[in-house]
Amino acid sequence: MYKAIALTTLLTLSSAIALPQRNRGGNSNTGGAGGGKKQATAFQQAAQVPQGVTQATDGSTILDNTVMINGLPIRFKISAPADQFLVGSGVPGAAATSANGTLGANVLLHGDGGQSFFDMPNQAVQANTMGVALLAPNDNLFWGGGSGLDRTDGVAHAQAVNDFVQKAMPKIVAMNASNVVFTGVSGGSLLMSGFFIPGQMQNFPNSAVELNCGALAPQVAFADAATVMNQTRIHYQSTQSELASLQDSIPQAIAAYEKLAVAAGLSTDQVNQMQTVDNTPQGGHCEFDGKDFVTGVQTMLTSFSNVMQGGNGLVAGIGAPSKGQVANGVVGNEKLKFAAAKKREAESMLQMRWAQDVVEGDDFAVLACDRSSCE
Ligand SMILES: *[C@@H]1O[C@H](CO)[C@@H](O)[C@H](O)[C@H]1NC(C)=O
Ligand SMILES: *[C@@H]1O[C@H](CO)[C@@H](O)[C@H](O)[C@H]1NC(C)=O
Ligand SMILES: *[C@@H]1O[C@H](CO)[C@@H](O)[C@H](O)[C@H]1NC(C)=O
Repeated sequence: MYKAIALTTLLTLSSAIALPQRNRGGNSNTGGAGGGKKQATAFQQAAQVPQGVTQATDGSTILDNTVMINGLPIRFKISAPADQFLVGSGVPGAAATSANGTLGANVLLHGDGGQSFFDMPNQAVQANTMGVALLAPNDNLFWGGGSGLDRTDGVAHAQAVNDFVQKAMPKIVAMNASNVVFTGVSGGSLLMSGFFIPGQMQNFPNSAVELNCGALAPQVAFADAATVMNQTRIHYQSTQSELASLQDSIPQAIAAYEKLAVAAGLSTDQVNQMQTVDNTPQGGHCEFDGKDFVTGVQTMLTSFSNVMQGGNGLVAGIGAPSKGQVANGVVGNEKLKFAAAKKREAESMLQMRWAQDVVEGDDFAVLACDRSSCE
């Protein structure tokens, strides 16, 4: 039988694998042009990309599977050395017998449309930290649901991310639960800063959050703000030609979090150590290398530990005129200067190049086999 499916059934957690649900429709009927077929949602298209086990760029093993968390299907990728997966996870070479491991985790939330979930720019183990990517449990693949700056399901999604890390991960892979850090990309950064940091970060001592191309001031009541502000490293990374709405919301987030840190008793020096910002690269939304969304996001993640885990703050390959040093303290830099927002800009954060590879075939089994080369 085909490999991807066989592996997922081995994983006892995956009682609710996201099966392909093409043509189930929902409210996105495109009309008669497609012979009466309804257009698949982004979530349904993602379900056509097979889950299973693949090899990461650094030789680690990536497990791609789905678990139900609070009634939400959370599709995940975990990238770690094979022997760090728990025996029973279904990963070939899995050898761990306890959830208590030595590798930390960098949990990434993609932007609208899911691109960075499929790219998984954090898949290489870095600074003793494995990569984890989670797919938004939402028809449009928007973390926090809603649209634009209005993330109507932010509370539930932040809770699901927390519960995945705290409850599901220990059943899959051995990790150091005292070393969990986070990455947001675009819409994923809106969920992290708007909902996750205020709502859930008290559960992750001494953590760090890299907010790439997006940020929101806290949208919900802040649990234990003094402790969280005292021990959570935050970096905001943007570009000169950021989307117009984010040119407003990122500075608002910076000001709000700085204020919370001051209220927690941090000195100016401490605030500048914990909270840093850069938007010097020329480039559009998430084009941190000055060129492109995908390579730009990869550029930030390749240097993640330099910026977020006690490194020298340098990002290799960042776009000009930046020379790479991005860890500039927020105090005095709250009011970011951007290039003028272009009028023609459509304001969409949507990025789903991965879907170009999804074939609308009649038989998912055939499609799955094509993609995982099963014989
Ligand atoms: C995990 O292992 C470390 C090192 O062996 C140990 O210090 C720690 O107490 C363990 N934690 C748990 C929760 O078992
Ligand atoms: C777990 O991570 C914490 C924080 O980085 C570190 O202090 C501790 O030594 C790590 N524990 C193990 C067993 O690697
Ligand atoms: C913040 O952490 C420092 C040590 O890192 C500690 O001395 C201080 O009391 C903490 N402040 C708060 C408000 O928790």
